[in-house]
Parts: sequence; structure tokens; C-alpha cells
Amino acid sequence: MLNLLPISGVLSATFTKTKLIQSMNSTKLAFAALAAALSFSLVASAEETKLPPASDKKDVTYATDIKPIFDANCAKCHSGDRAKAKLHMDTLEGVLKGTKMGKIVTVGDSEKSFIVKSIAHASSDKDEWMPPIPNKAGAKELTPEQIGLVRAWIDQGAK
Ligand code: HEC
Repeated sequence: MLNLLPISGVLSATFTKTKLIQSMNSTKLAFAALAAALSFSLVASAEETKLPPASDKKDVTYATDIKPIFDANCAKCHSGDRAKAKLHMDTLEGVLKGTKMGKIVTVGDSEKSFIVKSIAHASSDKDEWMPPIPNKAGAKELTPEQIGLVRAWIDQGAK
């Protein structure tokens, strides 16, 4: 019995060491997983807040700068009696009135405006991305320059 003790001591020491290495590895793994998760969520949230910058064009108005963009890419589905979401994109009043759910333009604050999140694909719900792609209305995704103009128009008071 006595001469077995050192052996069991060695055995348990070896066992503890293995356990330690195992737990170190799993701690490292946990850190790696955490780091991966963190960097992923950082990328995701950066993606969500990334809007094209507002254009620095002065005196942007609906009539001259914005209506042509909306006519080409929104109005086929958002005008007349059968306007989707009861949203009329072909008149300034219609755009400012918004959808059956409420306003899509926060006058003076393009970053908060739902329409900007929608056209810049910045909302997490892809159903809110406009125009829907593909579509049969010939509507195209807006370019960063067009989104920048819409932003400048809203920031300048949506006139
Ligand atoms: C091919 C047709 C089509 C085009 C083009 C289109 N939309 Fe839409 N839009 C829809 C449909 C369908 C809905 C959903 C209607 C509903 O849920 O009642 C919608 C809903 C919306 C909504 C409300 C979304 C919500 O979740 O409340 C907004 C805002 C909107 N569109 C803006 C635009 C803008 C801005 C453009 C142009 C850049 C555009 N749409 C182009 C079909 C279109």
C-alpha cells in the first residue's frame, strides 16, 4: 500500500496536467470563438450604419433632383390607385405623407429617415429594401450618388 502512493501521486499529477492543458485549450478556443463572434458583430453593425454620405450639392429640390430618380425607380409601383403601401412617390406631398404605416422622411435628418435606410439597404429586414430586386418595373437599385442626393435633399429640408 505504502509503495503505491508515489505512483498514484505521479498518476494524479499527470492527470491534473492533462486536465490543465485541456482546460487551457478550451479557454483558448472560447477566446477565439468570442473574438470571432465580436468581430463578426462589429462588422455587422458597421454594415448597418454605413450609409453613403450626403451629397454636398446646394439647393437640392424634389422637382429638379429627386423626382427623376423616384420616377425611374419607384413610381411604377408607388403611384395611382394601386400604389403599394399606399405610398405615392410621384409627388412631393405623397413622399412627405408616407405609407399607410406612417412617414418615411424625417425632414432635416436623413440618417433617421426610413426611406434612406430602405434605399441604402441599411435595415436588417430585407423586405424593407427598395426597390425590390428583381422586379418587372425596370426599377434599379439606387447608386451611392443618388442616395447621397436623397440624403442632401432631406437634410436641406425636403423642399
Ligand atoms: C416593383 C415594385 C416596387 C418598386 C419599383 C418599388 N417598390 Fe416600394 N414597395 C413595393 C411593395 C410590393 C411594397 C410592400 C407593400 C406592402 O407591404 O403593403 C413596398 C413598400 C415600400 C415601403 C414601405 C416598406 C415598409 O416596410 O413599410 C417603402 C418606404 C417603399 N416601398 C419605398 C420605395 C422606394 C423609395 C422605391 C424606389 C427607390 C420603391 N419603393 C420601389 C413595391 C415596389
